[in-house]
Amino acid sequence: MLHNFGSINLDHVYRVPHLVRPGETLASHDYRVGLGGKGANQSLAMARAGGRVCHWGRLGRQDAWARDTLSRAGVEVFRVKLVDAPSGHAIIQVDDAGENAILLFPGANHGFRRADLNELVADTQPGDWLLTQNECVGLDKLIPLAGDHGLKIAFNPAPMTEEVLRLPLSRCRLLFVNRTEAAGLTGLALDVDAEALLDALAVRLPAVEVVLTLGNDGAWYQHGDHRLHQPALPVKAVDTTGAGDTFIGYFMAALQAELPVRDCLERATAAAALAVQHPGAADSIPTVNEVDALLAAEAR
Ligand code: RIB
Repeated sequence: MLHNFGSINLDHVYRVPHLVRPGETLASHDYRVGLGGKGANQSLAMARAGGRVCHWGRLGRQDAWARDTLSRAGVEVFRVKLVDAPSGHAIIQVDDAGENAILLFPGANHGFRRADLNELVADTQPGDWLLTQNECVGLDKLIPLAGDHGLKIAFNPAPMTEEVLRLPLSRCRLLFVNRTEAAGLTGLALDVDAEALLDALAVRLPAVEVVLTLGNDGAWYQHGDHRLHQPALPVKAVDTTGAGDTFIGYFMAALQAELPVRDCLERATAAAALAVQHPGAADSIPTVNEVDALLAAEAR
């Protein structure tokens, strides 16, 4: 089983001609509300990929529909608590090129206490995976607690913050980073090449497996001296929101199925390529049949 300690957000998505500039008032030409949150997106992607995932999260009582959506997709949700607090939400602008800018209100995602973390970890088996991102509180406590309990930790430090630099990251088994997160972790400039980022990550966290996702430039896997590159599929993006989460969910499901890392990268890349062609976060995550069909078409 994989346990995902992760955010659940309501995403308010505004389509705009360009991302709003300081001081500007801009009219949006489309508005939708959907399920999002890096945690929820990753759980949903893992379930759609056929993985076994139990989500740990908090949601305002009035938004139980979001928990039902996860449940219908096959996510175990008995650890998603409905609480008397506003749910986390995100204000997302998506421009005509498919790029986005996200403003987050953490809400219920920031209500976890030490006792909650103890209870959650106590209910797991050593050897299980714990996946987490950086949209819930308590990671400084959760990571050592989970490590001591024998859980294998996969961490996606998104969104990247100063606090991430103080986390005991060497206790993670697997790290998913994009260019911004890799640069933040290593202190390198954003525009250095992928190899430089990977070299620096190998120095900082020599025992940790790293997956570096680079959008159109594909994805890398690194463990010690072993490096693999997976090219991206050439597609036209309409909305990149949640594509990284889709990648992670599909990668973890393939890993859980004990596929070789090369296949995990390939499946995750195909899933992300499908996700960027649809609007929304959770709504854009493809089914396993869609991913299989794309991979079969690519193999021809
Ligand atoms: O990664 C995309 C997600 O980031 C969105 O769904 C939004 O809720 C923010 O958490």
